[in-house]
Amino acid sequence: MIARGVMLGPDQPVILHMLDIPPAAEALSGVKMELVDAAFPLLKGVVATTDAVEACSGVNVAIMVGGFPRKEGMERKDVMSKNVSIYKSQASALEKHAASNCKVLVVANPANTNALILKEFAPSIPEKNITCLTRLDHNRALGQISERLSVQVSDVKNVIIWGNHSSTQYPDVNHATVRIPAGEKSVRELVADDAWLNAEFITTVQQRGAAIIKARKLSSALSAASSACDHIRDWVLGTPEGSWVSMGVYSDGSYNVPAGLIYSFPVTCKNGEWSIVQGLSIDEFSRKKLDLTAEELTEEKALAYSCLS
Ligand code: LMR
Repeated sequence: MIARGVMLGPDQPVILHMLDIPPAAEALSGVKMELVDAAFPLLKGVVATTDAVEACSGVNVAIMVGGFPRKEGMERKDVMSKNVSIYKSQASALEKHAASNCKVLVVANPANTNALILKEFAPSIPEKNITCLTRLDHNRALGQISERLSVQVSDVKNVIIWGNHSSTQYPDVNHATVRIPAGEKSVRELVADDAWLNAEFITTVQQRGAAIIKARKLSSALSAASSACDHIRDWVLGTPEGSWVSMGVYSDGSYNVPAGLIYSFPVTCKNGEWSIVQGLSIDEFSRKKLDLTAEELTEEKALAYSCLS
């Protein structure tokens, strides 16, 4: 996807740096062969390495997909301490060797807290440049609404994922709309089933990652890769006028979310910078859900810091 221009646009040449662990070195060299064989016009170079310094040198965009994976039945917290040490060392490599304006997207779970650890150990990378992936959840929410209403997914916009990329996340449709011939209509009005929107819709999106693991015996792959491309593309090239996306970003206290967490907010992007959409109304139901996922992130942060000592 990156080599085809899906992430950075059809006119942007790219050099791919791919890092893997030594036992996967041979498979990685096979991926490199395939990239060469695919003869992508935009692909100007491939670095395939097991050395984090070589991988991080000069990179402008870092997509952190490496982590200790969650297996079926495992809680994300079980893998915290393994990931804390991975993110601490990768943060140091990025801190020392990436381009000074490097944009970082953490995909591997626990994504929000991995991003926080990365921020902690890469202090020279601006905090605005360190984000985590909740666009996957955002896209899942769009997909559920589109299926329910039998409308094009591209006609649905402005869902919000608040909080953690976990089962406490809050997929919020209170500001979401669907394009109709006469303009736009709210999702709540069109679905006309608050019971579904306030229960099954939310749990389906919250549990989708686990449902995929159960079905595939592996984490989501295609949809995660595609939404990572969406995340970086919108961050670098901007969000369309009148619509926002969800990104896990460093909280500044907006919407009374504790500052200092990496929390998913609705954001718009322009000139390579994201800003949290301000002034959205939050009803009592939503408030509780925003607070619940913030509490989980506060606990995860404490757990992660306890693994550091
Ligand atoms: C997903 O949402 O698909 C993944 O984050 C699930 C997981 O824990 O790997």
